[in-house]
Amino acid sequence: MSTAPLAPYPALRLRRLRQAEWIRGLVRETVLTPADLIWSLVVHDGADDELPVASMPGAPRLSVRRAAEAARRARALGIPCIAVFPFIDGARKDATGSSAADPDGLVCRAVKAMKDAAPEVGVLCDVALDPFTDHGHDGLIHRGRITNDPTVERLVEQALVQAQAGCDILAPSDMMDGRVGALRGALEAAGLQDVMIMSYAAKYASAFYGPYREAIGSGTLGAGPDANPADKKTYQMDPGNSDEALREVALDIAEGADMVMVKPGMPYLDILRRVHEAFALPTFAFQVSGEYAMIMAAAGHGWIAEDRAILESLQAFKRAGAAGTLTYFAPRVAEMLG
Ligand code: PBG
Repeated sequence: MSTAPLAPYPALRLRRLRQAEWIRGLVRETVLTPADLIWSLVVHDGADDELPVASMPGAPRLSVRRAAEAARRARALGIPCIAVFPFIDGARKDATGSSAADPDGLVCRAVKAMKDAAPEVGVLCDVALDPFTDHGHDGLIHRGRITNDPTVERLVEQALVQAQAGCDILAPSDMMDGRVGALRGALEAAGLQDVMIMSYAAKYASAFYGPYREAIGSGTLGAGPDANPADKKTYQMDPGNSDEALREVALDIAEGADMVMVKPGMPYLDILRRVHEAFALPTFAFQVSGEYAMIMAAAGHGWIAEDRAILESLQAFKRAGAAGTLTYFAPRVAEMLG
Protein backbone atom coordinates (compact mmCIF):
# COMPACT_ATOMS: atom_id res chain seq x y z
CA MET A 1 0.00 0.00 0.00
CA SER A 2 1.28 3.49 -0.78
CA THR A 3 0.49 6.34 1.57
CA ALA A 4 0.23 9.97 0.51
CA PRO A 5 2.96 12.18 1.95
CA LEU A 6 1.90 13.42 5.36
CA ALA A 7 1.48 17.09 6.10
CA PRO A 8 3.28 17.89 9.33
CA TYR A 9 1.40 18.66 12.53
CA PRO A 10 -0.45 21.00 13.11
CA ALA A 11 -1.73 21.01 9.49
CA LEU A 12 -2.40 17.34 9.98
CA ARG A 13 -4.41 16.45 13.05
CA LEU A 14 -5.65 12.85 12.75
CA ARG A 15 -8.12 13.44 15.58
CA ARG A 16 -10.21 15.69 13.26
CA LEU A 17 -11.74 12.59 11.70
CA ARG A 18 -12.57 11.08 15.09
CA GLN A 19 -14.52 13.97 16.58
CA ALA A 20 -18.07 12.64 16.17
CA GLU A 21 -19.76 9.34 15.42
CA TRP A 22 -21.10 10.49 12.03
CA ILE A 23 -17.61 11.20 10.68
CA ARG A 24 -16.11 8.14 12.32
CA GLY A 25 -18.77 6.09 10.55
CA LEU A 26 -18.14 7.85 7.25
CA VAL A 27 -14.41 7.06 7.20
CA ARG A 28 -14.60 3.58 8.77
CA GLU A 29 -12.68 1.11 6.62
CA THR A 30 -14.46 -2.09 7.61
CA VAL A 31 -18.07 -2.48 8.66
CA LEU A 32 -19.27 -5.72 10.17
CA THR A 33 -22.65 -7.01 8.93
CA PRO A 34 -24.71 -10.16 9.62
CA ALA A 35 -23.64 -11.35 6.15
CA ASP A 36 -20.13 -11.82 7.58
CA LEU A 37 -21.26 -14.47 10.05
CA ILE A 38 -21.51 -18.24 10.00
CA TRP A 39 -23.43 -19.41 13.05
CA SER A 40 -21.71 -22.39 14.65
CA LEU A 41 -23.95 -24.50 16.83
CA VAL A 42 -23.96 -27.93 18.43
CA VAL A 43 -26.93 -30.28 18.12
CA HIS A 44 -27.90 -33.17 20.37
CA ASP A 45 -30.33 -36.06 20.30
CA GLY A 46 -31.86 -35.88 23.77
CA ALA A 47 -35.35 -34.92 24.88
CA ASP A 48 -34.48 -31.40 26.05
CA ASP A 49 -34.67 -28.49 23.66
CA GLU A 50 -31.48 -27.08 25.10
CA LEU A 51 -28.60 -28.84 26.84
CA PRO A 52 -26.27 -26.33 28.49
CA VAL A 53 -22.48 -26.43 28.13
CA ALA A 54 -20.88 -25.23 31.36
CA SER A 55 -17.88 -23.61 29.66
CA MET A 56 -20.01 -21.93 26.98
CA PRO A 57 -22.73 -19.93 28.73
CA GLY A 58 -25.33 -18.73 26.24
CA ALA A 59 -24.43 -21.38 23.64
CA PRO A 60 -26.30 -24.55 24.65
CA ARG A 61 -26.57 -27.68 22.53
CA LEU A 62 -29.85 -27.63 20.59
CA SER A 63 -32.33 -30.37 19.75
CA VAL A 64 -33.01 -31.00 16.06
CA ARG A 65 -36.29 -29.15 16.46
CA ARG A 66 -34.47 -26.13 17.89
CA ALA A 67 -31.88 -26.32 15.13
CA ALA A 68 -34.69 -25.95 12.59
CA GLU A 69 -35.90 -22.89 14.50
CA ALA A 70 -32.33 -21.59 14.48
CA ALA A 71 -32.32 -21.82 10.69
CA ARG A 72 -35.47 -19.70 10.50
CA ARG A 73 -33.95 -17.27 12.96
CA ALA A 74 -30.78 -17.07 10.86
CA ARG A 75 -32.86 -16.22 7.80
CA ALA A 76 -34.71 -13.49 9.70
CA LEU A 77 -31.45 -12.05 11.02
CA GLY A 78 -29.61 -12.11 7.68
CA ILE A 79 -27.10 -14.77 8.76
CA PRO A 80 -26.21 -16.62 5.54
CA CYS A 81 -25.04 -19.95 6.88
CA ILE A 82 -25.10 -22.32 9.88
CA ALA A 83 -22.29 -24.73 10.80
CA VAL A 84 -23.55 -27.79 12.61
CA PHE A 85 -21.57 -29.97 15.05
CA PRO A 86 -22.98 -33.04 16.81
CA PHE A 87 -22.96 -34.19 20.41
CA ILE A 88 -23.17 -37.96 19.94
CA ASP A 89 -24.39 -40.25 22.67
CA GLY A 90 -21.46 -42.22 24.14
CA ALA A 91 -23.21 -45.53 23.39
CA ARG A 92 -23.06 -44.75 19.66
CA LYS A 93 -19.32 -44.08 19.56
CA ASP A 94 -16.72 -46.67 18.62
CA ALA A 95 -13.02 -46.84 17.75
CA THR A 96 -13.59 -46.21 14.03
CA GLY A 97 -16.33 -43.59 14.27
CA SER A 98 -18.66 -45.76 12.21
CA SER A 99 -21.78 -43.74 13.01
CA ALA A 100 -20.21 -40.79 11.17
CA ALA A 101 -21.44 -42.40 7.96
CA ASP A 102 -24.98 -43.11 9.18
CA PRO A 103 -27.45 -41.47 6.78
CA ASP A 104 -30.05 -41.43 9.58
CA GLY A 105 -27.60 -40.05 12.15
CA LEU A 106 -27.99 -36.85 14.11
CA VAL A 107 -26.07 -34.63 11.67
CA CYS A 108 -28.06 -35.74 8.64
CA ARG A 109 -31.37 -35.33 10.49
CA ALA A 110 -30.35 -31.85 11.62
CA VAL A 111 -29.26 -30.87 8.11
CA LYS A 112 -32.58 -32.02 6.64
CA ALA A 113 -34.58 -30.25 9.34
CA MET A 114 -32.69 -26.99 8.81
CA LYS A 115 -32.93 -27.10 5.02
CA ASP A 116 -36.65 -27.89 5.25
CA ALA A 117 -37.19 -25.00 7.67
CA ALA A 118 -35.17 -22.39 5.77
CA PRO A 119 -33.83 -23.56 2.41
CA GLU A 120 -32.31 -20.13 1.74
CA VAL A 121 -29.85 -20.55 4.61
CA GLY A 122 -26.64 -22.43 3.84
CA VAL A 123 -25.65 -25.41 5.96
CA LEU A 124 -22.03 -26.32 6.59
CA CYS A 125 -20.98 -29.69 8.02
CA ASP A 126 -17.73 -30.47 9.75
CA VAL A 127 -16.07 -33.50 8.17
CA ALA A 128 -14.11 -35.20 10.95
CA LEU A 129 -14.48 -38.27 13.11
CA ASP A 130 -13.88 -36.89 16.59
CA PRO A 131 -17.56 -36.57 17.61
CA PHE A 132 -18.02 -40.23 16.67
CA THR A 133 -14.89 -41.97 17.99
CA ASP A 134 -14.75 -43.27 21.55
CA HIS A 135 -11.16 -41.99 21.83
CA GLY A 136 -11.97 -38.48 20.58
CA HIS A 137 -9.37 -38.43 17.80
CA ASP A 138 -10.19 -37.25 14.29
CA GLY A 139 -8.63 -40.33 12.76
CA LEU A 140 -8.55 -44.09 12.99
CA ILE A 141 -5.83 -45.42 15.27
CA HIS A 142 -3.51 -48.29 14.45
CA ARG A 143 -0.91 -49.34 17.04
CA GLY A 144 -1.05 -46.04 18.84
CA ARG A 145 -0.76 -43.91 15.68
CA ILE A 146 -3.35 -41.91 13.78
CA THR A 147 -3.55 -43.44 10.31
CA ASN A 148 -4.00 -41.19 7.30
CA ASP A 149 -5.37 -43.05 4.29
CA PRO A 150 -7.88 -45.32 6.09
CA THR A 151 -9.15 -42.20 7.86
CA VAL A 152 -9.64 -40.43 4.54
CA GLU A 153 -11.76 -43.35 3.30
CA ARG A 154 -14.07 -43.01 6.29
CA LEU A 155 -14.22 -39.22 5.86
CA VAL A 156 -15.36 -39.68 2.27
CA GLU A 157 -18.21 -41.94 3.44
CA GLN A 158 -19.16 -39.37 6.06
CA ALA A 159 -19.06 -36.46 3.62
CA LEU A 160 -21.20 -38.24 1.04
CA VAL A 161 -24.03 -38.89 3.51
CA GLN A 162 -23.85 -35.28 4.65
CA ALA A 163 -23.99 -34.03 1.06
CA GLN A 164 -26.86 -36.38 0.25
CA ALA A 165 -28.74 -35.04 3.28
CA GLY A 166 -28.57 -31.56 1.75
CA CYS A 167 -25.44 -30.05 3.25
CA ASP A 168 -24.21 -27.16 1.08
CA ILE A 169 -20.63 -26.82 2.32
CA LEU A 170 -18.36 -29.63 3.46
CA ALA A 171 -15.70 -28.43 5.84
CA PRO A 172 -13.04 -31.07 6.48
CA SER A 173 -11.46 -30.28 9.85
CA ASP A 174 -9.49 -33.47 10.30
CA MET A 175 -6.14 -32.30 8.83
CA MET A 176 -5.40 -35.62 7.12
CA ASP A 177 -3.25 -35.33 3.99
CA GLY A 178 -5.12 -35.70 0.71
CA ARG A 179 -8.62 -35.44 2.10
CA VAL A 180 -9.74 -32.48 0.00
CA GLY A 181 -8.84 -34.22 -3.25
CA ALA A 182 -10.54 -37.42 -2.12
CA LEU A 183 -13.72 -35.54 -1.19
CA ARG A 184 -13.77 -33.56 -4.41
CA GLY A 185 -13.32 -36.72 -6.48
CA ALA A 186 -16.05 -38.57 -4.59
CA LEU A 187 -18.47 -35.66 -4.96
CA GLU A 188 -17.87 -35.51 -8.71
CA ALA A 189 -18.34 -39.26 -9.04
CA ALA A 190 -21.60 -39.10 -7.09
CA GLY A 191 -23.05 -36.27 -9.20
CA LEU A 192 -22.72 -33.85 -6.29
CA GLN A 193 -20.45 -31.42 -8.10
CA ASP A 194 -22.14 -28.31 -6.72
CA VAL A 195 -21.34 -29.10 -3.10
CA MET A 196 -18.77 -26.61 -1.88
CA ILE A 197 -15.63 -27.42 0.10
CA MET A 198 -14.34 -25.03 2.74
CA SER A 199 -11.26 -26.72 4.06
CA TYR A 200 -9.91 -26.12 7.50
CA ALA A 201 -6.62 -25.65 5.67
CA ALA A 202 -4.56 -24.09 8.44
CA LYS A 203 -5.80 -25.67 11.61
CA TYR A 204 -3.52 -25.56 14.61
CA ALA A 205 -3.11 -27.97 17.53
CA SER A 206 -4.64 -25.52 19.97
CA ALA A 207 -5.63 -25.30 23.61
CA PHE A 208 -8.54 -23.08 22.55
CA TYR A 209 -10.74 -26.04 21.53
CA GLY A 210 -11.26 -27.06 25.16
CA PRO A 211 -14.90 -26.01 25.61
CA TYR A 212 -15.86 -27.56 22.26
CA ARG A 213 -14.61 -30.92 23.46
CA GLU A 214 -16.92 -30.57 26.44
CA ALA A 215 -19.77 -29.57 24.11
CA ILE A 216 -19.40 -32.60 21.82
CA GLY A 217 -18.33 -34.94 24.63
CA SER A 218 -14.92 -35.84 23.19
CA GLY A 219 -12.72 -34.92 26.11
CA THR A 220 -11.10 -38.30 26.67
CA LEU A 221 -8.10 -38.08 24.33
CA GLY A 222 -5.45 -40.55 25.31
CA ALA A 223 -7.76 -43.07 26.93
CA GLY A 224 -7.98 -46.50 25.36
CA PRO A 225 -6.15 -49.78 25.15
CA ASP A 226 -3.48 -48.80 22.63
CA ALA A 227 -1.76 -45.96 24.47
CA ASN A 228 -3.58 -43.58 22.17
CA PRO A 229 -1.91 -40.23 21.48
CA ALA A 230 -2.75 -37.69 24.18
CA ASP A 231 -2.95 -34.76 21.76
CA LYS A 232 -3.56 -33.96 18.09
CA LYS A 233 -0.06 -32.71 17.28
CA THR A 234 0.68 -35.37 14.66
CA TYR A 235 -2.07 -34.00 12.42
CA GLN A 236 -2.94 -30.45 13.47
CA MET A 237 -0.34 -27.73 12.86
CA ASP A 238 2.35 -26.52 15.21
CA PRO A 239 1.48 -23.06 16.60
CA GLY A 240 5.02 -21.90 15.83
CA ASN A 241 4.53 -22.21 12.08
CA SER A 242 3.41 -19.67 9.49
CA ASP A 243 5.05 -20.66 6.16
CA GLU A 244 3.59 -24.13 6.61
CA ALA A 245 0.10 -22.61 6.59
CA LEU A 246 0.74 -21.37 3.06
CA ARG A 247 1.76 -24.87 1.97
CA GLU A 248 -1.38 -26.37 3.54
CA VAL A 249 -3.57 -23.81 1.79
CA ALA A 250 -1.82 -24.22 -1.58
CA LEU A 251 -2.32 -27.96 -1.39
CA ASP A 252 -6.00 -27.73 -0.51
CA ILE A 253 -6.66 -25.26 -3.33
CA ALA A 254 -4.86 -27.55 -5.78
CA GLU A 255 -7.02 -30.46 -4.58
CA GLY A 256 -10.27 -28.59 -5.17
CA ALA A 257 -11.13 -26.49 -2.12
CA ASP A 258 -13.41 -23.55 -2.98
CA MET A 259 -12.68 -21.66 0.22
CA VAL A 260 -10.25 -22.08 3.08
CA MET A 261 -10.31 -21.45 6.79
CA VAL A 262 -7.81 -20.52 9.46
CA LYS A 263 -8.44 -21.83 12.95
CA PRO A 264 -8.41 -20.76 15.77
CA GLY A 265 -9.21 -17.14 15.07
CA MET A 266 -7.89 -14.33 17.19
CA PRO A 267 -4.50 -15.89 18.09
CA TYR A 268 -3.89 -16.52 14.36
CA LEU A 269 -4.88 -13.22 12.72
CA ASP A 270 -1.39 -13.00 11.21
CA ILE A 271 -2.00 -16.30 9.41
CA LEU A 272 -5.40 -15.16 8.18
CA ARG A 273 -3.87 -12.00 6.76
CA ARG A 274 -1.01 -13.86 5.10
CA VAL A 275 -3.24 -16.50 3.52
CA HIS A 276 -5.71 -13.93 2.24
CA GLU A 277 -2.94 -11.81 0.71
CA ALA A 278 -1.06 -14.74 -0.79
CA PHE A 279 -4.00 -16.57 -2.40
CA ALA A 280 -6.79 -14.00 -2.84
CA LEU A 281 -9.55 -16.54 -2.34
CA PRO A 282 -12.41 -16.49 0.18
CA THR A 283 -10.66 -17.05 3.49
CA PHE A 284 -12.63 -17.68 6.66
CA ALA A 285 -11.77 -17.52 10.33
CA PHE A 286 -13.16 -19.68 13.13
CA GLN A 287 -13.65 -17.91 16.44
CA VAL A 288 -13.42 -21.13 18.41
CA SER A 289 -15.02 -22.25 21.63
CA GLY A 290 -12.12 -21.14 23.84
CA GLU A 291 -12.30 -17.63 22.39
CA TYR A 292 -16.03 -17.58 23.11
CA ALA A 293 -15.42 -18.84 26.64
CA MET A 294 -12.70 -16.25 27.33
CA ILE A 295 -14.93 -13.35 26.39
CA MET A 296 -17.90 -14.73 28.32
CA ALA A 297 -15.81 -15.50 31.40
CA ALA A 298 -14.16 -12.09 31.54
CA ALA A 299 -17.47 -10.35 30.89
CA GLY A 300 -19.13 -12.53 33.52
CA HIS A 301 -16.70 -11.10 36.04
CA GLY A 302 -17.44 -7.60 34.85
CA TRP A 303 -13.86 -7.23 33.63
CA ILE A 304 -14.71 -6.35 30.03
CA ALA A 305 -17.85 -4.91 28.39
CA GLU A 306 -19.47 -7.97 26.85
CA ASP A 307 -21.24 -6.57 23.78
CA ARG A 308 -18.38 -4.30 22.80
CA ALA A 309 -15.79 -7.05 23.22
CA ILE A 310 -17.84 -9.41 21.05
CA LEU A 311 -18.26 -6.85 18.27
CA GLU A 312 -14.62 -5.79 18.40
CA SER A 313 -13.43 -9.41 18.24
CA LEU A 314 -15.48 -10.03 15.10
CA GLN A 315 -14.55 -6.77 13.45
CA ALA A 316 -10.91 -7.82 13.83
CA PHE A 317 -11.46 -10.82 11.55
CA LYS A 318 -13.02 -8.70 8.86
CA ARG A 319 -10.26 -6.10 9.11
CA ALA A 320 -7.64 -8.85 8.82
CA GLY A 321 -9.21 -10.03 5.55
CA ALA A 322 -11.77 -12.68 6.48
CA ALA A 323 -14.63 -13.21 4.04
CA GLY A 324 -16.60 -14.39 7.05
CA THR A 325 -16.22 -15.85 10.51
CA LEU A 326 -17.63 -18.95 12.15
CA THR A 327 -18.79 -17.92 15.60
CA TYR A 328 -21.06 -19.05 18.42
CA PHE A 329 -21.93 -15.37 18.86
CA ALA A 330 -23.60 -15.10 15.43
CA PRO A 331 -27.25 -14.58 16.46
CA ARG A 332 -26.31 -12.17 19.25
CA VAL A 333 -24.11 -10.15 16.95
CA ALA A 334 -26.71 -10.06 14.18
CA GLU A 335 -29.22 -8.78 16.72
CA MET A 336 -26.79 -6.13 17.96
CA LEU A 337 -26.11 -4.99 14.42
CA GLY A 338 -29.86 -4.66 13.93
C1 PBG B 1 -12.97 -31.43 15.07
C2 PBG B 1 -13.19 -30.01 15.36
C3 PBG B 1 -12.73 -29.29 16.47
C4 PBG B 1 -13.31 -28.04 16.37
C5 PBG B 1 -14.06 -28.00 15.20
N1 PBG B 1 -13.97 -29.22 14.56
C6 PBG B 1 -11.90 -29.70 17.63
C7 PBG B 1 -10.61 -30.33 17.44
O1 PBG B 1 -10.02 -30.32 16.37
O2 PBG B 1 -10.12 -30.91 18.41
C8 PBG B 1 -13.16 -26.95 17.37
C9 PBG B 1 -14.25 -25.96 17.42
C10 PBG B 1 -14.21 -25.06 18.58
O3 PBG B 1 -13.34 -25.15 19.48
O4 PBG B 1 -15.08 -24.19 18.64
N2 PBG B 1 -12.04 -31.81 14.21
